[in-house]
Amino acid sequence: MSRFEIKTPAQLEVMRAAGLVVAGTLGTLAQAIEPGITTGELDRIAEREIRAAGATPSFKGYQGYPATICTSVNDEVVHAIPTQHRRLRDGDLISIDCGAIVGGWHGDAAITVGVGAITREHAELLQACEAALWQGIAQARPGGRIGDVSHAVEQAVRAAGQRRGAGYRLAEGYTGHGIGSQMHMDPSVPNCGPPGRGPRLVPGMALAIEPMVVAGRGETVVLADDWTVVTADGGWAAHFEHTVAITPDGPWVLTAIAGLGDNRVPQQSGIERGGSTPGHTGG
Ligand code: MF3
Ligand code: CO
Repeated sequence: MSRFEIKTPAQLEVMRAAGLVVAGTLGTLAQAIEPGITTGELDRIAEREIRAAGATPSFKGYQGYPATICTSVNDEVVHAIPTQHRRLRDGDLISIDCGAIVGGWHGDAAITVGVGAITREHAELLQACEAALWQGIAQARPGGRIGDVSHAVEQAVRAAGQRRGAGYRLAEGYTGHGIGSQMHMDPSVPNCGPPGRGPRLVPGMALAIEPMVVAGRGETVVLADDWTVVTADGGWAAHFEHTVAITPDGPWVLTAIAGLGDNRVPQQSGIERGGSTPGHTGG
């Protein structure tokens, strides 16, 4: 018996529906991002799309959180609250974190995108973070352990930082998490640590894997609003997240649709591509 919530195939289908609402919403937001738009406007777009899909925003009201999405700009790492006053500018980096509930089941994902034209350095930071997420996802398979996911993420970030020369760090103090009938559940999914350790992965588990990569030292500070997490040294940050189910065939990326990166993991890992792998859709 697992200590963790094990989803039936039918329950994973509902989580997939929630995941697709999140993926679609993030896709809409990515299209809408341009210099001059406010984070508050993005929040309105997100809430409208989630509710139009018959789903419920999971962040709104969560421990008092006042919005549908988190919109973390530049040196903000995660959990920044959208407002009508924060107008995006050319060259900014914005991470958008979004969660939705369908039939009681949660999806949670995040992307980071550039506003207008961004520097090559910033583009590389985004790539390093997204690639680290996918390296972690590739380890989300039966027989593996949480530490395998953590280690793959950490190694990918380290390697990307070494290639750059500049060095990247994972934001300290924040992890991914189990997910299912609640947004945050056990087990915790750290973004670093030794392989071969931690809880064993079994079919029916679902994890939100979410590296937060910073160009800088990695120390974080929470602002006086009690939500916004910023880097202590002002370094800019990227954040990518997917909700991933462990299936007998390997990871099923519940929050990925074509165009958001779900075809970037080798096919033999069992990733569903384009939402049409028969083995994953019969539940
Ligand atoms: N998806 C976020 C996370 O896993 C949750 C945002 S906190 C909220 O950290 F309050 F905004 F919901
Ligand atoms: Co999350």
